[in-house]
Amino acid sequence: MEEGHRIDPWSSQQSTDYQRLIQKFGLEPLDLPSIPAPNTLHRRGIIFAHRDFDVILNSIKNNTNFGVLTGLMPSGKMHLGHSMVIEQVKWFQEQGGDVNVAVADLEALATRSKSLDEGRKTAIEEYIVNYAALGLKPDTTNVYFQSKRPQVQRLAFTLGRKTNLSEFESIYGFKGGTNLAHVQSPLIQAGDIMHPQLEEFGGLRPIVVPVGVDQDPHLRLTRGLASKTNWFNIKNRKNGGLNITLSIQDENANALGVSPNGSLIRETRNTVFNKITNVISQFGFADVFPNPKHGTIEIPGATSREKFALKFELLKLERYLGGMGLMPPCSTYHRFAVGMTGDKMSSSKPETTIFMDDSIAEMSKKVKRARSGGQATVEEHRRLGGDCSKDVAFQYLEFFFTTDDKELEEIRNDYENGRILAGEMKQLCIDNATDWLNDLSEKRDEWSGRINEFLAHDSH
Ligand code: TRP
Repeated sequence: MEEGHRIDPWSSQQSTDYQRLIQKFGLEPLDLPSIPAPNTLHRRGIIFAHRDFDVILNSIKNNTNFGVLTGLMPSGKMHLGHSMVIEQVKWFQEQGGDVNVAVADLEALATRSKSLDEGRKTAIEEYIVNYAALGLKPDTTNVYFQSKRPQVQRLAFTLGRKTNLSEFESIYGFKGGTNLAHVQSPLIQAGDIMHPQLEEFGGLRPIVVPVGVDQDPHLRLTRGLASKTNWFNIKNRKNGGLNITLSIQDENANALGVSPNGSLIRETRNTVFNKITNVISQFGFADVFPNPKHGTIEIPGATSREKFALKFELLKLERYLGGMGLMPPCSTYHRFAVGMTGDKMSSSKPETTIFMDDSIAEMSKKVKRARSGGQATVEEHRRLGGDCSKDVAFQYLEFFFTTDDKELEEIRNDYENGRILAGEMKQLCIDNATDWLNDLSEKRDEWSGRINEFLAHDSH
C-alpha cells in the first residue's frame, strides 16, 4: 500500500517494541519449541509472531499438502529487506510446500503508477532472478501476475461483497479522495492469498503467508472475509465442547433450507443435517445434539484439539454443497532489520540498505559508514565492550550473512567483551557480505536465462 496507509512499526515507537504489535494486532507470539526443523530466522527469534502457524507445522509433521503464498511489489530494486521473506519461502518449500508468487502488478499500477509492462520487466529482471539465485526451486514455484489471472480478480470481486467502505476506511485510512484502483488493491491481495485454495490451483489446503508485520492488516482483512463466506461456524460452547452453527447468507439460503420468505424448508435442512452428522460421526463423539430447526449442532465432548480437523471436514462439505469452502490463511511475521544509517531501511534511500546487485565496493562503503555499537575510544571499547543492539554490522551478520549460530554467538560475546573492535566487526561483516553477494551474483548469471521455469502457465 502507499506509504501513508502503511502500518509503520518504525514511526511512533522503538524498533524493539514487537510485544506491543503482538498485543495491538492480536498475533500469537512464536513459540519456538514447537518448530520441528527451525530455520535460521526462527532460531534467532527474527520471526516473532504468527497466526495459525501450528496448522502448517501439523501439515509438515503429517506430510499433508500445504501451500506458501508471497507477493512482490514490482517497483524499485530488490534489497536485503526483501530477502527475508524469500528465506522463509525457501524453507517452507524444503518442507514440502508448493510456492505461489504473486507479482502485484495491478497494485503497482494503482499505488506506484507503474505500467503493467514496466511491472513485468521489474518483476522478472529484478526480483524473480534474485529469488532463483537465493535458492528457490523452479519445479514447485509458480510465479503469476495479478493482471493475468482472472481467477484472482474474480475472487477479489466475490470477497468484496463481504466488506464495505467503512471497514476500508478504518483499516487503511482511505478517504473520499482515494482513487478506486487504490481501494481495489487490498481486495486483489485477498484474492492472491485465497486463490491457491481454488480447485484449479491445488484445492483446499492450508496456505501460509510469511510477511513483515506491516502487512498484517491485509491478513486480518483476508481472514475476516474468508470466515464471512463460510457456511458453517464452529464456536466454543459455554459449558465445554463445541457448537456448530449454520451461517445463512444470500448465496446459501436455498441450499441450507431457508426459503426466500425466510421460512424453513424442512426437507432440505434435514438433508444438510444428515450430511453434517455423517461428517461428525467419523470423529466418534459420544454425544451429538443436532437441532435442524435452529441450525445448530452441539458436541459437548469435542475439544479445541478437534476443532481444526472438524472445520476442515466442514469446509469439504461446504464445497460439496456449492460453497467456496475457504480456510483463513496462516501467517508468520518477521522483525525488520535496522537501516544501515540507524533509521528505517528504504529503497529510496540507498545508503540505508544493500541492494542485491551492489558492487563489493559499494557494499563496503555502506558498511564502513553504518551505525556502530562501538565505544568512543579503543581504550573504552576494550573496557566496556560494544553494543550489539546498536551495531548494524553485527545485526546484518545475524539477519543475513551468517547461518552458523555458534560462530555468531562467539562474535557477539567477543564484541560485548571488547575483544572485537568496532572496525573489526565491520570487516567481519564486509567479508561475509562479500561471499554472500559474490555467490548471489554467480547464481543470478546461472539462472538469468532460465526464469521461464519459474513462471506459471498463465504468465508467459
Ligand atoms: N502489498 C504487498 C506489498 O506492498 C504486495 C503483495 C500483493 C502481497 N499481494 C500479496 C504480499 C500477497 C503478500 C501476499 O509489497
